[in-house]
Amino acid sequence: MLIKKTRSWELPESAVTPESVFKDRRKILKGLAGGTILGAAAGPLMAGGAVAAAPENDPSSHLYPVARNPLYTAQREMTPEGIAATYNNFYEYGSHKEIYELAQQLRTRPWDVKIDGMVDKEFTIGFDDLVAQMPLEERVYRHRCVERWSMVVPWSGFPLSALVNLAKPKNDAKYIKMVTFLDKSMAPGQKEFWWPWAYTEGLTMEEAMNDLSFIATGIYGHPLPAQHGAPIRLAVPWKYGFKAVKSIVQFTFTDERPTTFWEASNANEYGFWANVNPDVRHPRWSQSEERVLGGGTVPTQIYNGYGEFVADLYKGMDKTERLFM
Ligand code: MTE
Repeated sequence: MLIKKTRSWELPESAVTPESVFKDRRKILKGLAGGTILGAAAGPLMAGGAVAAAPENDPSSHLYPVARNPLYTAQREMTPEGIAATYNNFYEYGSHKEIYELAQQLRTRPWDVKIDGMVDKEFTIGFDDLVAQMPLEERVYRHRCVERWSMVVPWSGFPLSALVNLAKPKNDAKYIKMVTFLDKSMAPGQKEFWWPWAYTEGLTMEEAMNDLSFIATGIYGHPLPAQHGAPIRLAVPWKYGFKAVKSIVQFTFTDERPTTFWEASNANEYGFWANVNPDVRHPRWSQSEERVLGGGTVPTQIYNGYGEFVADLYKGMDKTERLFM
């Protein structure tokens, strides 16, 4: 395995992509929008000729970019947008990484989000009404996929705790279950009957209320493009990437631990906790290192380097269960 000599992960990301760059990029995107490259409705484009889909006609575009919260520093070089936007996992569009074009079939408006289960009063809210009342900020987070690749991206969005507070769960709710849309007409992968659709994930209430738990509605200073899970997805950077459920339509508060998509598919390989841990092997491969999208290999860190925020959540739990399964 190739070990990179320059230790790029030690660079502060402030050295790489200041907000002014996002603003300039948006101007460029706007300038190009009438031209041939951006003729299509979704308006994708990228430096380097690939795509990225910062949807210029997205009704929430005016909300971005938002101020970066300096508390969260990834201590690694930012992944170029063109790479993050063209190497994705979104099984609703296929089980390979090049789904970004197929994902443009995702229709993100109207988009309703249902809040139900053990709450004071169940309700449904349109995505644009929800995002308008949330405290938006940008956070640069590392993302470590269980498959051993990683990236560093600037998410825009709001703390999951803000959504929990809006939902007003009952005291005896123990978990929050998050579910992706179910609609074969815009997600051909959902015709593959052997997968346990709809994609479902869950967190304990303590995890959901942790400062790090974030709901992303944007990336790189614009609304989320389809392939990243538009219009609303989870970002929990101390856990393997499969916990970061995309295109959420339902948040259910419950006292029963939800069965997740990957547990239902293969519980021996993908458990509920899924905390990043270089010392606990995936049954088929080591987790000690990770391939950084864009180049190089670095050692994987316990809790993906976020132990100071989250280690206390797992005190006293069985070691193997708490750290991987
Ligand atoms: N959410 C849904 N609905 N469907 C998926 O297939 N894949 C997960 C997660 N969320 C997935 C999903 C996995 S395995 C990873 S690593 C991340 O999304 C990838 O996020 P990205 O494509 O934005 O990098």
